[in-house]
Amino acid sequence: VIVPIILAGGSGSRLWPLSRQLYPKQLIALNSSRTMLQETALRLANLSEAVSPIVICNDDHRFMVAEQLRQLNICPETILLEPEGRNTAPAIAVCAMEAASRHNDPLILVLPADHFIADTQAFLSAVREGAGEAEKDRLITFGIVPDGPETGYGYIQKGVPLSSCAFAIERFVEKPDLETATSYVASGNYFWNSGMFLFKASTILEELRTLVPEILSNCEAARRKAATDLDFIRLDGPSFHASPSDSIDYAVMEKTQKGAMIPLKAGWSDLGSWEALWQVGEKDLQSNVIHGDVLTHDVRNSFLHAESRLVAAVGLENHIVVETPDAVLVSPRDRVQDVRKMVDYMRLIG
Ligand code: GDD
Ligand code: MG
Repeated sequence: VIVPIILAGGSGSRLWPLSRQLYPKQLIALNSSRTMLQETALRLANLSEAVSPIVICNDDHRFMVAEQLRQLNICPETILLEPEGRNTAPAIAVCAMEAASRHNDPLILVLPADHFIADTQAFLSAVREGAGEAEKDRLITFGIVPDGPETGYGYIQKGVPLSSCAFAIERFVEKPDLETATSYVASGNYFWNSGMFLFKASTILEELRTLVPEILSNCEAARRKAATDLDFIRLDGPSFHASPSDSIDYAVMEKTQKGAMIPLKAGWSDLGSWEALWQVGEKDLQSNVIHGDVLTHDVRNSFLHAESRLVAAVGLENHIVVETPDAVLVSPRDRVQDVRKMVDYMRLIG
């Protein structure tokens, strides 16, 4: 069987002011009537090999996560609660242990709760193709043909073919600098890491034990001392805190010899920024993406979102305007990566 693991613990700070600490990106509806978490869970409906998902999120979000799944009649295997985020390696470690305790060495499909995929069928076929290779103790990544030197992604250098659809990973580099990313894209040999993974629970647990034993041992303790609360499993705070905080990309994927990649052509986007939302959004004749009560005159190639008031724009080009009841963001489209810096600054000054 395949146990889906839905990672729902990120903060999505580049999508401020829609994405907030209490309402992060994965729990809001960005380009659909459903939230990103709901879209992620629904995408699995046609994967007959899959059992109910295990969801992992921050303790603060437990009721919202449970309620959003209940609205779709999706009953998760369990919802694991983190007392604090320790990044994706510990989250995947505890989920792999949880899945292994419920099934006989299952495959686990790691899915970030905040990605957009236009073509669900193409995504599901890639997962099925990956399953065969994952059974052979490979750590499967899904590679996206890059369309620019994005520095927020992992880069996968394609190695020798392993089957008709899978390639070995020659090199995995997480978040290279701009110069390096530019050379990778120019070489034509590199793919973006989509951040979704497929492996046997035993394969990833062994790799974690070899490469980052401190993460694995503390996560084991966090699960052993966990408390059950309604349908939730609350990980033990001190043990989980003792685990180093690291992403699976740095902790495992950059170092492992077992990586493999399945190319994925499914209209994937991690909707990481307002620019990405403009890219995937439905455009009007002036190439604007418009949500809500918005009036435009001579506006082109812009993203305008109104929640609580009329937004009127004149003569704008290549801009982002996001209005919410208590905050408004205005930014040129090519500066939206800096929104995170503003959010960090606001946290700093409280
Ligand atoms: N439960 C839980 N706990 N989830 C987490 C945590 C955590 O501590 N930290 C992050 N997540 C979730 C996020 O919500 C997101 O869905 C996913 O894990 C990946 O984390 P990000 O923080 O968004 O990672 P990234 O975007 O910087 O990089 C990853 O994704 C890229 C593609 O979008 C990497 O895998 C890159 O290599 C990849 O290219
Ligand atoms: Mg991300």
